[in-house]
Amino acid sequence: MVPYPALEQPLNPFPRYEAMRRSEPVFQDQETGVWHAFRYDDVQRVLSEHATFSSRIGGDNPSETGQLFAASLINTDPPRHRQLRSLVTQAFTPRAVEALAPRISDLTDELLDPVVSAGTADLIEQLAYPLPVIVIAELMGIPAADRDRFKQWSDVIVSQTRPGADESSHTAAHREMAEYFMGMIEQRRRQPGDDLISALLGAEIDGQKLSVIELLGFCSLLLVAGNETTTNLIGNAVLCFTETPGVAESLIAEPARLPQAIEEVLRYRSPVQSMYRISAVETTLRDRSIPAGSPIVAWIGSANRDGEQFPHPDVFDVGRSPNRHLAFGQGIHFCLGAPLARLEARIALQAVLSRLPGLAVDPDAQLERMESTIVFGVKQLPVAWRAA
Ligand code: HEM
Repeated sequence: MVPYPALEQPLNPFPRYEAMRRSEPVFQDQETGVWHAFRYDDVQRVLSEHATFSSRIGGDNPSETGQLFAASLINTDPPRHRQLRSLVTQAFTPRAVEALAPRISDLTDELLDPVVSAGTADLIEQLAYPLPVIVIAELMGIPAADRDRFKQWSDVIVSQTRPGADESSHTAAHREMAEYFMGMIEQRRRQPGDDLISALLGAEIDGQKLSVIELLGFCSLLLVAGNETTTNLIGNAVLCFTETPGVAESLIAEPARLPQAIEEVLRYRSPVQSMYRISAVETTLRDRSIPAGSPIVAWIGSANRDGEQFPHPDVFDVGRSPNRHLAFGQGIHFCLGAPLARLEARIALQAVLSRLPGLAVDPDAQLERMESTIVFGVKQLPVAWRAA
């Protein structure tokens, strides 16, 4: 992955984006050769024009760390992408996701019950991290005892986007994860159950099934794409709801406004700040000519603060409408897990607001950004509330 110059304020990259949108909206980093797009229109084009901006990062020779995802839909173009996506959507329908609501509510309560009377907690550790991991693990039929290993793998893999990250630990984490899922896949093949892996093993399109490598890629993708992102949506929402006076109170009074408020969190503090593409052909972006084969970073976090698209972009407005943010991407790669992420966030945040009255972030906390230039959120979120 491509490093981006270190930020002085990792939790506030927005002034930097603004400066780039103004001065050099399409910019080539001379050191790395990588192109960067910052404006809404350009980011939208890069994400959705798949014939020009390919998702096949690594081409036919993906790097060691990219290997697992190389066969998964996030790194493929049509026609293969369409086939893979139809296979996995058979197993991942909105109806299947909606059916999870009661279980997500129970899990949220189980996670909050032990902390409610304490009056303080790290909300990432106690709720925002474990909830999505448990939901994905249960969807895949992963035994509860193995969940901690999930965290270690996904932490290491997400941190691979950090400049100077330790390459050997990624390789080891990828290998361990691949071995684990291979075992799981073999076991489900012998003994299918009522879980996503079994459904994926059974899914077929044009008489074709997913290969083991593709299944492996998809399992790993779900683990990484679905966990840290949803964790950060929940954490970022708590930051947004508590830093502006009156917001939390208004959402407690009118919980029906929560889904719209979550969309604003997705725009204002996008859990995924950037996505990669590679130019398949020579092309022009704004007034810049980009040669074929160039890596390009589409800055979603910047597009979502573009004043050309969003009036008063730096104001967190829970009632914002329209709100055509790009937080889940756009076009054929639009996030497959968006319904699940929205559902988990709504249930978790509703519980946080109603069960933790007077919620506030600890004013002495030194908030730190998660170690990634792609995923955006805090490592810890110490909060306090009025315990009964
Ligand atoms: C707030 C949480 C989430 C955010 C912000 C997010 C963001 C994104 C974005 C921006 C993309 C587009 C990638 C591209 O254009 O190259 C994407 C794709 C994807 N996401 Fe998510 N995601 C979230 C949660 C989830 C969850 C919960 C899952 C699954 C359980 C998931 C699974 C996927 C998959 C499989 C793709 C690839 C789709 C394709 O290439 O056709 N995501 N996500």
